[in-house]
This record gives sequence, structure tokens and C-alpha cells, in this order.
Amino acid sequence: MSADAGLVVIGASHAGHQIAVAARQAGYAEPIILLSDEDALPYQRPPLSKAYMMGKVDADGLIFRSREFFQDQDIDLRLGVSVAGIDREAKEVRCADGSVLPYTLLAIATGTRVRPLPVPGAHLDGVHYIRTLSDIDRIMAELEAVQNVVVIGGGFIGLEGAAALRQMGKEVAVVELADRFMARGVGVTVSSFFANHHREQGVDVYLQTGVSELTGEGGKVAGVSLSNGEVLKADLVIAGIGVIANQELAVEAGLDCDDGILVDENARTSDPSIFGAGDVTRFNSRFAPMSLRLESVQNATDQARAAGAAIAGAAKPYDSAPWFWSDQFDLKLQMTGITSGHDKEVMRGEPSAEGFSVFYFKGDTWLGTDTVNRPSDHISSRRLLDMGYALSAEEAADETLALKDVLKQARKAS
Ligand code: APR
Repeated sequence: MSADAGLVVIGASHAGHQIAVAARQAGYAEPIILLSDEDALPYQRPPLSKAYMMGKVDADGLIFRSREFFQDQDIDLRLGVSVAGIDREAKEVRCADGSVLPYTLLAIATGTRVRPLPVPGAHLDGVHYIRTLSDIDRIMAELEAVQNVVVIGGGFIGLEGAAALRQMGKEVAVVELADRFMARGVGVTVSSFFANHHREQGVDVYLQTGVSELTGEGGKVAGVSLSNGEVLKADLVIAGIGVIANQELAVEAGLDCDDGILVDENARTSDPSIFGAGDVTRFNSRFAPMSLRLESVQNATDQARAAGAAIAGAAKPYDSAPWFWSDQFDLKLQMTGITSGHDKEVMRGEPSAEGFSVFYFKGDTWLGTDTVNRPSDHISSRRLLDMGYALSAEEAADETLALKDVLKQARKAS
């Protein structure tokens, strides 16, 4: 029997469960304990705001792996366990139930939590967020009696929720503080195309509009007071106004953090015995001039694989192009690269549900691509970015030049 205390992983969502699995698959032979503060087996979050809310997939359909899989991999999965502190001197994790777990290596994949609505009435019944399976179960339990929904926040989560609920026949309004939707992630053309599409589908769109108060009747939400003086009727409110990194455990343990736990390309924190992966980390990337804290499945998965490899002593640095997606109505929006800071948009096709792509440039430098219902442009863009290919604005604009052929040529040349 080994005296090695092994690996403890805090958090078992996209990143946490993948660290445990990747470490095993890369040959890590010591004990692995995987801790989740949720009661459900580790599950995929993206369908929560789409297929799961619409009843197209059930909770069993969301799980990554069966309980037997974790047993077979000799991963000790412990559900409903909340971690209260990390003692780096003693190399111990202290759980909220008083138990103490020694570790040789530790991984933190605590993700993010929703930003709470900062207005009076936010605690009324009928006010919800979209983050966990139980959040959606609570929404679904109320839906039958709901007619009017107000979604606060026109980011990815709010708009996916709005689309799902509209498709379920609800009257839906979206209230967004900024002058356009998804401003953090996409350019102006894509933002306005999505705003128009939501309007066409019967969603009431309010831009540059804040919320001053939620009003209630008998403890339950009934209305949303807007900054323009209007009051929207609401039986259900969904807030999607961003997320906050769960970095407190790392901060209290003295790890370097800056809106995210700082990690290197092997997902190692400022303590060589501690790794971090997923939404909670911040790192440098060749795809952006500034450090990044990415909220995406791709980042969680790829960074967790890098952590698992390093944990097993077979480092494989994380170096893939960021990508994201969002499904709203019949639109599949796929994004790759970090495109904030662009000064030029180059189009392929015209904005329509038939499909179009937008290539973003800063000067002559191609930063990334957003595609709508054009998966092939997305995949080729991703691969070209991975290769460090310098796509020109002329190539981007030339509809007769298939991107997959550009990719083929680039591969031949490399
Ligand atoms: N009222 C209205 N809108 C607001 C307010 C407010 N008080 N505060 C913020 N907003 C808007 C922002 O302008 C932004 O458009 O809410 C939106 C939040 O969008 P995101 O930051 O993208 O966050 P969200 O949509 O909540 O998603 C959180 O979950 O699934 C992931 O990829 C998703 O990383 C994202 C995360």
C-alpha cells in the first residue's frame, strides 16, 4: 500500500471531474478523491438553459459518467461535500462537516457562482438563476403556471433561457443594461442580428435598460420596474447578469489570485503542489494580449487535461484556441479566438439564419471568428488559429475560397 496521500480534487463539474479522469488516464496511480458540493453525479451544464429546460433531455442524460465508471477508475467520488479550507503547511483539506483530508497534490476546480441581482425584491419567490441542475428544476416546477417571463441580462445564459421559454409558448422580455446583446463575447453585427432574431420570434427586447426593483404580491414576484419607468408584468424572473469566480479558498490559502486563481500552462498555481482548472483560473495565452479567465467548456476540459497530465508527471501544456458556442432558437452561434479589441469586422455572407461568418481583425492581425449556422467555417477557423495561421482580410472576405481549403494548404505548408 502506498503512503502517498494522493490527489484531492475540489469541484466535480466540467473541469474537476476531467482532472480526476485525465490524471488516471495519464497514468497517475495514487489515490484520487473527487469532491462535489452538489448531490448529483457530475453533469454537463450547457443543456441546462436549453434542452433540459425544454424537457428534451432528462437529468440522467446530462451526466458525464456513471457511478460505476468512477469506481472502475478507482476515483473516490464524494457528493454533497463542501470544502471549508485548505491548510498548505499540513497539506490538508478541511471539509464543512469537520472531516480532514490529507493530500499530496491538490486541484481546485471550484468554478463560478452567479452574480446576485443587486435590486430590491431579488429575494422574492419566482426569481431564479441558471447555473445548477436544481436551479432549473425549481424553474420547471413553476413553469406551468407561468405566462410572463422577464429575463434580466442579455448575455449567453439570459438569451438561451429566453429562447427556450419563448419556444415553450411563454411571453418573454429581455432587459439588457448595455446597448447590445452579448457585448462581452461578440461584435456589433452579431449582437444586432441576435436582437432582431429574438424580436422576430416575439421576444420583447429592452436595450440600455436597467432594473430598479422587483415588485411582489404575497411574497411572489409580480413585476419588474425598469429604469425607463415602465413596469413589466412577471410571473417568473430569470437573472443572467454574469458570474463570480469561486476563488475564496485559494485566496485564503495564500495562492496568487487576481479575479481568478493564477495558473501556468500546466495548470499549476503559485504552489507547485496545487493545480487549478476551469472558470476559476486566470492564465496567459498566445491568443490574447491580456491574461484570461475563460468561462467555457473548452477551457475547462482542455485545461483540466493539462492538469491531469502534469499531475501524472507527463506534462502536456494547454495551448488550444479558445472556443465557445450558444444555441438560441434555430441559431447555432459558434465563436473562436479572443476577439475583444478588434477594429475591423470582415463578413462572409449577409446576416441571416441561413448562415454567415464574421472575421475579426486588429490592424492586419486576425483575432478570431464568429459563425452563425456555419459550423464548417467555425471548425476551420479554430484549426487555423491553433496553427497560428495569419489569415488575411482578403482571404476572409473571399467567399469562393473555402476555409477548409485554406486549412489544407496551411497544413501542407507547415
Ligand atoms: N441589468 C441588466 N443587464 C445586466 C445587469 C443588470 N443589472 N448587469 C449585467 N447585465 C448584463 C451584462 O451587460 C451582460 O450582457 O448581463 C449580461 C451578462 O452576460 P455574461 O457576462 O455573458 O454572463 P451570463 O450570460 O450570466 O453567463 C454567465 O455562464 O454559461 C456561462 O458562457 C456563460 O460564461 C457565461 C456564464
